[in-house]
Amino acid sequence: MIDRRSIVKGITILPLLAVAGGIGTALLSYLKPTWKPLALPVTEKPLNEDKIVGTLEEFAKDYDVKEFIFTQVTVEYTARGRAATDVLGYAVRVPNGSLNAAEVGVGPNGLRRGYGEADYKGQKYSIVVVSRICAHLGCIFQYHTPAEVCSGFNYCGGKTPMFSCPCHLSVYDPAQKQDVPGVGQLAGKVVSGPAPRTPFPFDFALEDGKIIVKSYG
Ligand code: FES
Repeated sequence: MIDRRSIVKGITILPLLAVAGGIGTALLSYLKPTWKPLALPVTEKPLNEDKIVGTLEEFAKDYDVKEFIFTQVTVEYTARGRAATDVLGYAVRVPNGSLNAAEVGVGPNGLRRGYGEADYKGQKYSIVVVSRICAHLGCIFQYHTPAEVCSGFNYCGGKTPMFSCPCHLSVYDPAQKQDVPGVGQLAGKVVSGPAPRTPFPFDFALEDGKIIVKSYG
């Protein structure tokens, strides 16, 4: 039988237990990780929209060039969920046979990585599509004639237009390939200056006479 003394003792200890329980719960919820830490946005669409750079007919002859801007969309760990960055690019027609599409610019999912070839309306086109961000320290490079490359960039060994960077004088030849470890053979060999590798390629398709950039980086 429960005596009166035990009942009083039980009543006294109840508030203490309640306080201890409250403190314990607060401590646990403080230590416990947040339930949903910055969940990634769920998207059904690819992050990057296709960018039509132009038509092959715009590249009537070797070394014709066209500038473009590709808006790269990436996941960002903020409330906005994504960020858009404009990346400058060049598309250049190079002479047929200077590069081989079977070994240069083989990209994922059947895409071309920086270099592709297409037959269109009785002509064969060999097209290089790269970022203008210099692979050395990120300046924006230009497209120059051989004379400009020789007088301004300390490289006189070429007879064709090239990409050349004003910051530390790297020169890239779009019509030559270079092996980039871990990536493969890419167009845009470094022929002079400190750049460690070719320009960064865009992944693109040549469809119905159009150059369509799909992604970058
Ligand atoms: S950033 Fe282009 S050569 Fe240095």
